[in-house]
Amino acid sequence: MDLPEYTKQQLALRNGQDKPQIWVAYRGLIYDVSESRLWRNGKHYEHWAGQDLTEELADAPHTEAVFEKFKPVGKLLKP
Ligand code: HEM
Repeated sequence: MDLPEYTKQQLALRNGQDKPQIWVAYRGLIYDVSESRLWRNGKHYEHWAGQDLTEELADAPHTEAVFEKFKPVGKLLKP
């Protein structure tokens, strides 16, 4: 998989407020959830896009299967 790499700072701009894209990172991959009504304006229940939400998934009422319909758009660079 040859995906572009993005820093945490670049991801942070795709929070549904600063740029038109809405991105979420999970386990090192970045997903574009811009088309999701459940992520409108970058907000998903008490969570905001533009971040790595890997650890937060444990509190969700669903599994990581929710990412299956989204194609990864990039990789999150480790700090
Ligand atoms: C309190 C925490 C959360 C709540 C209450 C919540 C609730 C939901 C609900 C009800 C759905 C729709 C259907 C389903 O269950 O599959 C959903 C979808 C989804 N959730 Fe969460 N979620 C939470 C946290 C998270 C976190 C932390 C992530 C990311 C790591 C996440 C990513 C997603 C994605 C990508 C979808 C699919 C959206 C779509 O299909 O349009 N959720 N969530």
